[in-house]
Amino acid sequence: MVRPGGPLEGTVRIGGAKNSALKLMAATILAPGDYVLHNVPRISDVETMSDLLTSMGLDVRRPDGHTLRIHRGADVVPEAPYELVERMRASIVVLGPLLARFGYAKVALPGGDDFGPRPIDMHLKGLHDLGATFETKHGYLEARAENLVGARIVLEYPSVGATENALMAAVLAKGTTVIDNAAREPEIADLASFLNRMGGQVLGAGSSTIHVLGVEELTPVEHTVVPDRIEAASFLAALGIAGGEVTLEGARSDHMDMLVAKLGQMGMRISPSEDGLWAMSPRRLSAVDVVTLPYPGLATDYKPLFVAMLAVADGVGIVTENVFGGGRFRYIDELVRMGADIRTEGHHAIVRGVERLSGAPVKAPDIRAGVALVVAGLGADGETVVHDAFHVDRGYEGFVDKLRGVGADIVRERST
Ligand code: UD1
Repeated sequence: MVRPGGPLEGTVRIGGAKNSALKLMAATILAPGDYVLHNVPRISDVETMSDLLTSMGLDVRRPDGHTLRIHRGADVVPEAPYELVERMRASIVVLGPLLARFGYAKVALPGGDDFGPRPIDMHLKGLHDLGATFETKHGYLEARAENLVGARIVLEYPSVGATENALMAAVLAKGTTVIDNAAREPEIADLASFLNRMGGQVLGAGSSTIHVLGVEELTPVEHTVVPDRIEAASFLAALGIAGGEVTLEGARSDHMDMLVAKLGQMGMRISPSEDGLWAMSPRRLSAVDVVTLPYPGLATDYKPLFVAMLAVADGVGIVTENVFGGGRFRYIDELVRMGADIRTEGHHAIVRGVERLSGAPVKAPDIRAGVALVVAGLGADGETVVHDAFHVDRGYEGFVDKLRGVGADIVRERST
């Protein structure tokens, strides 16, 4: 339950990146032994990945707040069951490491989701290039590879998941792999640095061409997850709508260059601080056009946040989605119910800013859109009640408490 508020003031601690932590956890399949991961957020997607690794026979513990200890023994059940893949599509990243280590994997086929179809053809193409074969039966994908052999993989699109699966398979393949048109997200660079510390030989991660020289064995390591740029963006959006001055402790501005530039055009002032980012927002933002693209472009995950900011900004902004097709605009109907003036046209949304939104009961359709509805509530008269808030828990630790900590008028009513 959110009420209008602001100006926001104070410090928010930004946690580790969900989209990195999940892949690092999957990478522990690659070698037996004991791993320590620091800065792992307490979110339900991490719980789901823990459940998945546990179901495969790994031992996952969280001795203190943000540290995970993972023990990978000799025996692993190379199978990802439907209940878990269905709960979290990112489970598909166990495919590459399972194949690389055990030559076999049985993974439930992920279905579509609220964003529309989410195919895995590029994941399979990359692994096929390394020598894997596939069969689908009863809703499961069975993958086999006697030996993975290094190859040149050209991705049709810089898919994050496909790059990660190829990378985790190539690291133990025989010979050299080149991944061309690779995704460049900071979370990929984090995964590569984890693999390199384990003894892998990965060069160029973070650029479009990744070279992997296959090694025979890897060894477990201790690693700290990179900060979550999307969590940081969410608090910047809250600030953009409510106004004020906030420090985001732990955020990495060099992972958010385009975002910082775009928010600057909207009137915010953002600069690196000693341990993160300092940001200030005027009373009302100015509208801009926004186009989502693979990194280093503006992330598709920022899009609902931009739409929420533009809904109360001065002027008209056009938001264009280039990463996901289909229905990633569903939350817009909810914003319109709050009085926003938004029209969608294919993969464009035309947002005409209004002075104030009007608080209403709304429903979160997914993680980022859920957060966008919450921050929109900061710029809406009266009370906004965001239902299905469990979506937010998938990717945000203590979101409500952190917002309250900088002065927002928000409470969590129930645990759903
Ligand atoms: C990851 C992120 C997600 C983010 C997305 C894009 C995680 C857990 N999730 O998702 O938050 O929004 O990157 O930055 O890290 N595609 C295909 N075939 C494939 C694979 C992808 O057509 O085999 C398409 C997808 O449908 C989508 C586009 O490629 O249109 C990008 O998807 P991808 O980069 O793979 O996203 P994810 O790794 O699923």
